[in-house]
Amino acid sequence: MSTLDIDFVRAQFPAFSEPSLQGQAFFENAGGSYTCKPVIDRLTRFYTQRKVQPYAPYDASRLAGEEMDEARVRMAALLGVDTDELSFGPSTTQNTYVLAQAFRKWMKPGEAIVVTNQDHEANSGPWRRLAEDGIEIREWKIDPDTGSLNPEDLENLLDEKTRLVCFPHCSNVVGEINPVTEITAIAHAAGAFVCVDGVSYAPHGFPNVGDLGPDIYLFSAYKTYGPHQGCMVIRRALGELLPNQAHYFNADVLYKRFTPAGPDHAQIAASAGLADYVDQLCEHHGGPDGGASQRGAFVHDLMRAHEVALLQPVLDAVKDRNALRLIGPSDATRRAPTVALALNREAGPVASELAEMGVMAGGGDFYAVRALQAMGVKPDQGVLRLSFTHYTSRQEIDQLLGALDRVL
Ligand SMILES: Cc1ncc(COP(=O)(O)O)c(C=O)c1O
Repeated sequence: MSTLDIDFVRAQFPAFSEPSLQGQAFFENAGGSYTCKPVIDRLTRFYTQRKVQPYAPYDASRLAGEEMDEARVRMAALLGVDTDELSFGPSTTQNTYVLAQAFRKWMKPGEAIVVTNQDHEANSGPWRRLAEDGIEIREWKIDPDTGSLNPEDLENLLDEKTRLVCFPHCSNVVGEINPVTEITAIAHAAGAFVCVDGVSYAPHGFPNVGDLGPDIYLFSAYKTYGPHQGCMVIRRALGELLPNQAHYFNADVLYKRFTPAGPDHAQIAASAGLADYVDQLCEHHGGPDGGASQRGAFVHDLMRAHEVALLQPVLDAVKDRNALRLIGPSDATRRAPTVALALNREAGPVASELAEMGVMAGGGDFYAVRALQAMGVKPDQGVLRLSFTHYTSRQEIDQLLGALDRVL
């Protein structure tokens, strides 16, 4: 397998040649990534040439609509699902909120939903609120020491009343990659649907959602080098079963049923740039020229191999330090490069110290309050989070490790 050409990768991100960002090593990617050039180019073209109401007969409008359609066609193909099984909404939090309203109407009092305490609040709070309507909420709890979710514990929470199981592909503080296919099979065997928050996983290589198997898969394009959009896969069987949440006359269009907000035309169109970027990486590295999901799988593995190689030294540098606790696995192959450290002091000021050394990182609870509490970390003290992606270089890792040596 070829290795990632990091110079080629970085040339696709204008941020790396931006004078005001020189010398700054970016380690808050789990909050929001840099944007790749194909997305920026498409956004600029849309705003300068196509910023009219789409789907009308004049050229600018026709091109606008075609580009929005292209984004859905190509991204759905990359994700291994049908075109109308992918919708764009304002954000993942908004998307889960709308989905929860649909489940609220569809479910009956006494039926149950499983949520975790590993999730970001976006895939937790909206579901928990269904308790107000008599839905039983069962919590799948993490191990307080490791932060792990054990699939065997899930089995004990399932019965004929369970309609939905919600969990993250990867938590934004624990970083461990959950076995989505295995968990989905357990939930499906009990007759429950599955909703996966893929926000912390998708930036590390788009998954083939069709092969993974969940009924719902959510991620945020602004963390996958794209515009500020929430991307939501809803498989057909579930999407047609749940009550429509959009205008009544849109009920027959699957990709509109759970996105009542007016679409952000430019940002949806620009999302096609994510597929351009994957194709560029695939072609440059001599990947397969087969279908989109094959190209996506090749690029996924390329990104992942680069990230794992850079991540292990970071984990090795922090795992045995007395003054801190590494959250999640110390084996890079088991996790995303999103590394949370619980310190013996408040994390925010440490992030400020790092900023003075040219390392951009964050400190806080990252909206994973329940996960931190379950592991005995005080949310107001928070964790220092160091997160990177495939475009991060070895030099930046060295800069990070040097800076950590000084602040920890
Ligand atoms: C794991 C995870 N899930 C969900 C969200 C919420 O995504 P959005 O900002 O698109 O609502 C975030 C945002 O940080 C996240 O990290």
